[in-house]
Parts: sequence; C-alpha cells; structure tokens
Amino acid sequence: MPDPRPAPVTVPMVRAAKVRDGHQPLVMVTAYDAPGARIVDAAGVDLILVGDSVANAVLGYEDTLQVTVDDMAHHVAAVARARPGALIVGDLPWMSYHVDVADTVRNGAALIRADAQCVKLEGGAVRAPMVEALVRAEIPVMGHIGLTPQSVNAMGGFRVQARDDEAAADLIAGAQVLVEAGVFAIVVEGVPEKVGHALTAALDVPTIGIGAGPGCDGQVLVLHDLLGVTERTAKFVRRYATLADDATAAVAAFAADVRSGAFPSDAEVYH
Ligand code: KIV
Repeated sequence: MPDPRPAPVTVPMVRAAKVRDGHQPLVMVTAYDAPGARIVDAAGVDLILVGDSVANAVLGYEDTLQVTVDDMAHHVAAVARARPGALIVGDLPWMSYHVDVADTVRNGAALIRADAQCVKLEGGAVRAPMVEALVRAEIPVMGHIGLTPQSVNAMGGFRVQARDDEAAADLIAGAQVLVEAGVFAIVVEGVPEKVGHALTAALDVPTIGIGAGPGCDGQVLVLHDLLGVTERTAKFVRRYATLADDATAAVAAFAADVRSGAFPSDAEVYH
C-alpha cells in the first residue's frame, strides 16, 4: 500500500498542518501494542495515539479513570517497539496532571522515556500552567477539549458538549488559552459540527476531531472501534471491518477442526 505520509512525522510537521493552509487532513488512530502500531503505521496514519481508551478498548473497564502512568508507559513502550514512522502521542491519564505542576512534568517525562514523542492531556484554560511547564521541559503537548472522557463523573455521563452559544464561546476561549500556553494541536471531542468548524477557524494549531464533524483539520478514531472489535460504539464511529465476528468465526472453525480430527493434517505434522 502506498504511504501517503512522509515519515518520520514530527511535532513541527503536525503543528503546521492546518487544512486552510493547504494541508491534507491529519489522520490519527489509537494503538496500544506493537502489532496494532505496525498495522496503523503500515496504513500510513500520521499520528498514533496511545490513548487512555486502552482502559475500555483492551482492559475491560467502563471508563478511563482506572489506568495509571505506569499502565500508559507500558503501552507506549510496546507501541514504540514497532518503530512506527507516525508520531507517537502518549496520553496522560487521570490524576497525572491535575494536582501539581512538578508531578505533571515528571509524569510527562515518564511517557517520553517510554518513547512517546509528545503527550496529550484533557481540559481547557485550567490546564494552562501544566501545559506551560511541560513545554518548558521540552515535552510537546496536545490538548483535548469538549467531551473529555476523564471528566465523565463531573459531566454526568458521556454527553455532547458546547451545545449552546455561551458554552461554545467558553470552549473556544479555553482552547485559545491552551494555544497561548503552547499546545501544538488539539483534539476536539463530542461537540456539534458548527463548534468544530468555529474552533478550527479560530485556532492557529490543527484541530483533530472525534465526533466533532468534518470541519476539523484531522480526524481520530479508536482502532478497536473502526475495526469492529468493540461491542458498542458511539454515533460518530464508522466501522471499516468486522474483526470480532471474523475472529470468532476463525476460532470456531479451529475448534470444529480439532473436534472432527481435521486438524492437524499430515502437512501440519513433523515427520
Ligand atoms: O484515549 C483516546 O483514545 C482518546 C481519543 C478518544 C481521542 O483520547
């Protein structure tokens, strides 16, 4: 498959990738291990997000609040061992950047030492001091605003955000503060299409949407959602495969062959 993307992808390349300046939309997909990273990198994605969605997609939790910095470092390192050309984004988990600026930098450094090339954190203007400290420590930061899954309890569930004009204006103002603090791109999740557009027009850094409509500078999906591995998905997910069904059928075929004696065949035996 032709690789449409120059590799390796760097933070300055992503920072410059505004669609209004003639760039192609950015493509970001999650991965949590080396085979996943090899698959998405071979497909030519620009960025691999080692997301805290590992909690739901892989570890069986209902939300993302249970994963720790050590968990995230473990998955970042596994992705990095695949040596992808795509930029590796390490997701800072809940409580790793909420208490103290020094802790935030130490936790960011843990993901960089695990071989992430940048980190992502959730929240608006309130995170500006953390973003500034990370950037001062030479750790590039991606923002994440709108429906921020780590705020599930504060939001009262996974709900579309910024539905009225006042909330949309607040979201845009908060995003501008993050840009001033130094983020090089912002994930925009779970907002009405017109808010995705407005953010993209207002900000000088690329917006990467998930459930934020086509007006963003790029799109991100969770690998297990787009491959049809996860059971339930949100409205904004498009499934490009049915891997759970295909995998179950494959294992069922193996089980049937073992039980009927058709496996192993003569060709599958050492003589
Ligand atoms: O953890 C994750 O996968 C994310 C995406 C939903 C953007 O943060």
